[in-house]
Amino acid sequence: MNKLLIATNNHGKVIELQDLLKVTGIQLLTPVDIHLSLEVDEDGSTYAENASKKALTFAQASGLISLADDSGLEVDALDGAPGLYSARYAPLRLPPFSGKMKEQEGGDADRRAFLLQNLKYKPRPWKAHFHATIAIATPSGEVEFAEGNCFGEIIPAERGSGGFGYDPIFFLPELNKTMAELDMEQKNRLSHRALAVMNARPVLNKMFGL
Ligand code: IMP
Repeated sequence: MNKLLIATNNHGKVIELQDLLKVTGIQLLTPVDIHLSLEVDEDGSTYAENASKKALTFAQASGLISLADDSGLEVDALDGAPGLYSARYAPLRLPPFSGKMKEQEGGDADRRAFLLQNLKYKPRPWKAHFHATIAIATPSGEVEFAEGNCFGEIIPAERGSGGFGYDPIFFLPELNKTMAELDMEQKNRLSHRALAVMNARPVLNKMFGL
């Protein structure tokens, strides 16, 4: 049977990609399913570079066709930041009361707070979009790409508890809801990742001979 490895350690992305890809009929595997633990340094200067690095690293380590997503939030008033650095967009901080001196990266909530702090004095609406680039790589080194965008705006107070990352402050004016107020089925009809997966379908069909 055809097998596709979802090449990410981000739980939120795994859940969404599993749902988005189930219609293909391809058997989906995660790194956890095959006991593969890999950290890929996302040091590229484009989404495509990072996505292909992740997909190729996982494909070569597993021997399976692998699909990776590199995504980010681009805010117009911040000239496109945090963009490629969305997953690391927060000041490093010392963990409280731990006695450790090593600085730690913040979590999703720290990143949302940091973004709102940087937007505080900028006039609203804070127009923004999510971008996703998907790379699909074979173990022999072939890579194909697909992209998707989702447009909305950032709001100053969090709403909703679904999704992950910046979803609670990413507002979709047409729906009068944040991305975190949508259930997964709704998010997966309009998100940047959903559009990128839709655009990747011909590549999957070709690679898996569907
Ligand atoms: P990366 O693709 O691993 O570099 O991570 C992308 C980062 O962008 C995530 O860690 C989130 O902070 C943000 N992001 C990407 N897609 C979404 C989404 O669907 N909702 C909210 N945040 C997202």
